[in-house]
Amino acid sequence: MASTAAAADSGLPPVVYNDDVVRKFTIAAIFWAIVAFLVGVVLASELAWPQVNLGLSFINFGRLRPVHTSGAIFAFGGSALFATAFYIVQRTCHVRLFGGRALADFIFWGYQFFIVMAALSYVLGFSQGQEYAEPEWHLDLFLTVIWVCFAIVFIGTVMMRTEPHIYVANWFYMAFILTVAVLHIGNNIALPVNIYTAKSYNIFSGTQNALVQWWYGHNAVGFFLTAGFLGMMYYFIPKAAGRPVYSYRLSIVHFWSLIFMYIWAGPHHLHWTALPDWAQTLGMAFSIMLWMPSWGGMINGLMTLSGAWDKLRTDPGLRFSVTAVGFYGMSTFEGPVMSIRSVNALSHYTDWGIGHVHSGSLGWVAFISFGAIYYLVPSLWNRSGLYSKKLAAWHYWIATFGIVLYISSMWVAGIMEGLMWRAYDSQGFLQYSFLESVVAVHPFYVIRLLGGLCFLSGALIMVYNLIMTVRSQRTNPGIEPFSGAMPVAAE
Ligand code: HEM
Ligand code: HEM
Repeated sequence: MASTAAAADSGLPPVVYNDDVVRKFTIAAIFWAIVAFLVGVVLASELAWPQVNLGLSFINFGRLRPVHTSGAIFAFGGSALFATAFYIVQRTCHVRLFGGRALADFIFWGYQFFIVMAALSYVLGFSQGQEYAEPEWHLDLFLTVIWVCFAIVFIGTVMMRTEPHIYVANWFYMAFILTVAVLHIGNNIALPVNIYTAKSYNIFSGTQNALVQWWYGHNAVGFFLTAGFLGMMYYFIPKAAGRPVYSYRLSIVHFWSLIFMYIWAGPHHLHWTALPDWAQTLGMAFSIMLWMPSWGGMINGLMTLSGAWDKLRTDPGLRFSVTAVGFYGMSTFEGPVMSIRSVNALSHYTDWGIGHVHSGSLGWVAFISFGAIYYLVPSLWNRSGLYSKKLAAWHYWIATFGIVLYISSMWVAGIMEGLMWRAYDSQGFLQYSFLESVVAVHPFYVIRLLGGLCFLSGALIMVYNLIMTVRSQRTNPGIEPFSGAMPVAAE
């Protein structure tokens, strides 16, 4: 089913958008969010009480961890990115998706198939052992095909646009699509050694392998977890606030400086290792420089609300998006601090890193996606609004409370671990055994579990609210309640 854009305020003729694929990806994002959060909660319980794995190999911590990380980043985050990319590019280019319905459907079903196969392979014990790039070569090849199709559809749509200008959100999505393609291929060049067990070995080894892996890993953060979600920020905040982007010029500076700097920062994951010192220093310098474009983007996102702050009281989706931008600012302040080698000497290997990851992933990635989903569902299903704003407000507060429990407990646990591991007694011996540090963090692991449960409960409230929204009375059939055109930019 396709819907017709009113496009009245743009003065352009209506276009029949392909919203079918957007709806499918939106449902997938919501489904995978619950799965990934649930597995996160199971992992948090296993860390607090290891016997929760019931002695079963396929749900032990080592096998479930990549199910959680890939589930949260690629299944939930990825589906949200596909949905919003396809929604936004059609509306800002004022043209239907390039390549036809069959290609869009192939991308949807192919990507979902990849996710299910990857998760199955992890629980069955297959992995190439590279974080965030665990699938073996045959799945990597399959994903490459899907990704190339994604690039063709997205870039094809931009090229067919009837609007003269390429809106800034599309630049962020294009950087995300192209860079992830390069990263995926670069980090997965492997030699298959057994066709039946699908085992392969990466062509790089030792330090080179570590450098390529963290060039991939950090830019997965920069381009998968950041660039595409910034595209969401630049579309949904101005739309929901009914205001133009605060400074369009700043958004362009934000884009070019961010993509130029991110690509060099990977070595900050390899401080105090066999990697040459100059490379570590390079990674640290670029990470600190990254603070500027990151905060430039945050300021641009927040200032877009100037004159419309009152909407935060009435629009729960906007509340999620704006809080997400705040968390983006927080985690992109923390990241550069952690990249300083002397700080990293304390933080690395500890739960501080896990706290940082989840302030970025829960606060930024998940919240900006929730904001987009609360906007998309009424729009895609032609409803006048959400079933219940009150339930959305409950979701917001429970999830925010959950994040606070999660990240503050991890900060305390992490700094405590770091300090315990480096404490010496007067004789020069280590003051604490490793076991003592494990015992000391136990209460904080329980608090993190409570935080995770709150976050999951909030998401379940969202699912109920969205189902009821779709089941509610359809308004104005065939015409979407929100116009596709962007508010006119100030500059
Ligand atoms: C200016 C921006 C940022 C910088 C400079 C930065 C820097 C860092 C540093 C120094 C580490 C610790 C590396 C280590 O000790 O091994 C780290 C880990 C991590 N960060 Fe960030 N960070 C930034 C933003 C973000 C954001 C916004 C997210 C999430 C959306 C994020 C996700 C992660 C993840 C997933 C890891 C863990 C990687 C791993 O070891 O598996 N970062 N980051
Ligand atoms: C209910 C929500 C969640 C809970 C309870 C949860 C829990 C966990 C746990 C227990 C770990 C393992 C920590 C360790 O190895 O010490 C973990 C790792 C991780 N989670 Fe989550 N998580 C949640 C949501 C998310 C989301 C939404 C994302 C991304 C969008 C995410 C991304 C990650 C990543 C990247 C790691 C690996 C971090 C690293 O290696 O440094 N998580 N999570």
